[in-house]
Amino acid sequence: MERLTHLLSNNRAWADSINAHDPDFFRKLANQQSPEYLWIGCSDSRVPANQITGLAPGEIFVHRNVANVVAETDFNVLAVIQYAVDVLKIRHIIICGHYGCGGVRAALENFRHGMIDNWLAGIRSLSRTHRAELAALDTDAAVDRLCELNVRSQASHVARTTILEDAWERGQKISIHSWIYRLDTGLITPLAEPVTGPMDNSD
Ligand code: CO
Repeated sequence: MERLTHLLSNNRAWADSINAHDPDFFRKLANQQSPEYLWIGCSDSRVPANQITGLAPGEIFVHRNVANVVAETDFNVLAVIQYAVDVLKIRHIIICGHYGCGGVRAALENFRHGMIDNWLAGIRSLSRTHRAELAALDTDAAVDRLCELNVRSQASHVARTTILEDAWERGQKISIHSWIYRLDTGLITPLAEPVTGPMDNSD
């Protein structure tokens, strides 16, 4: 049986190296987490939130799914946002997509991929809204453009949840950031100014 012993030994080496540096690190962290950031990103294995932002355990609360979707009917993402905002009192929500996203590409393609097509229905609908702009681009450029549009759209879904509207109403300070990551450079680019309060209907 494959017991993944290489991963377990990596883990031991990692814990040892942190302990060597700061013997209290894990004990302090076990007692409480107080991250300032919530990350909503793609499940893609090449976009690990902590590593690409240089943050340590305890510093960023993370939710990832295929194509960084925030669907108003998804209890999973809503529970994560609610806990992060109401209990952890995070200050920043980062929606981070990435260029060349396979989920976004699948949403643009005209054939069936399986159950995932239902998950991607919102992005398919977004591609229809921007059909003219996307049709003028070659396939890779259209995928990348739709990756950007998707980040903006998911950020506005977050801003329009009752969770954020209520938090802002109470005077809680939370900013929503729309970012995109480039796989072949390792660099993140912000796509818009952070949203710091309720969006009006023209947004
Ligand atoms: Co992706």
